[in-house]
Amino acid sequence: MVVRELTGGIYFGQPRGFSTNDNGEEVGFNTEVYAPHEIDRIARIAFETARKRHGKLCSVDKANVLEASMLWRKRVTAIASEYPDIELSHMYVDNAAMQLVRNPKQFDTIVTNNIFGDILSDEASMITGSIGMLPSASLGESGPGLFEPIHGSAPDIAGQDKANPLATVLSAAMLLKYGLGEEKAAQRIETAVLDALIKGLRTGDVHSAGYKLVGCKEMGEEVLKSIEHKIPAAV
Ligand SMILES: NC(=O)c1ccc[n+]([C@@H]2O[C@H](COP(=O)([O-])OP(=O)(O)OC[C@H]3O[C@@H](n4cnc5c(N)ncnc54)[C@H](O)[C@@H]3O)[C@@H](O)[C@H]2O)c1
Repeated sequence: MVVRELTGGIYFGQPRGFSTNDNGEEVGFNTEVYAPHEIDRIARIAFETARKRHGKLCSVDKANVLEASMLWRKRVTAIASEYPDIELSHMYVDNAAMQLVRNPKQFDTIVTNNIFGDILSDEASMITGSIGMLPSASLGESGPGLFEPIHGSAPDIAGQDKANPLATVLSAAMLLKYGLGEEKAAQRIETAVLDALIKGLRTGDVHSAGYKLVGCKEMGEEVLKSIEHKIPAAV
């Protein structure tokens, strides 16, 4: 799980713009800036998220060169005292980019700033094989959140029964788990998705030799069957 700060940092920081340097050249500039309340807010969400997963949080920054990252690391470390049950580590972003490819299973939950999260979340998505596999949430402090697949509307395959529905299905699980605190219901959906994959069903975007190629509709029906089969609806 990548927890990305979404409303601050270099994408919004002031000053920004174009000007002219001492040599008369046009320059473009932006500002990476974070205040403690912005870092504390996302850090708490990340610690809470790690608590719902496997209790490990890796904070990714560039504290060896960026002052904004030095403050980031200081605040995340301070907030960690509120979460003694969570194992916190820190990693520089260049190393994190490499480690995600080398051994993604070493990570449980990652928390990072806006720009690093933008890039690392896309990198992480491809570890699963397709953007059709991953859900996302945009969370405010007091909700409601926005839960959606990480992909867009896939216009090039519209109406062809080719789209992978799992990212959208898993968005509903994320809504239940992180939006409504309904962990058991979320788990039913996640288990059903896993069942369909274990059975060897694959939509075209993640299909390879040895697996059964199915369309969007069939994949959806298989997930539904698994939900109904595993736990009676009344429970
Ligand atoms: N989070 C978002 O809201 C979001 C993200 C990306 C794009 N968009 C919007 O979606 C529209 C199309 O954008 P795009 O084509 O750049 O991105 P896209 O994510 O819709 O598609 C990119 C590629 O991935 C494939 N793809 C996407 N989802 C898939 C799925 N579930 N199963 C199989 N293949 C899948 C598409 O066929 C396409 O080849 C645009 O209007 C864009 O603004 C929205």
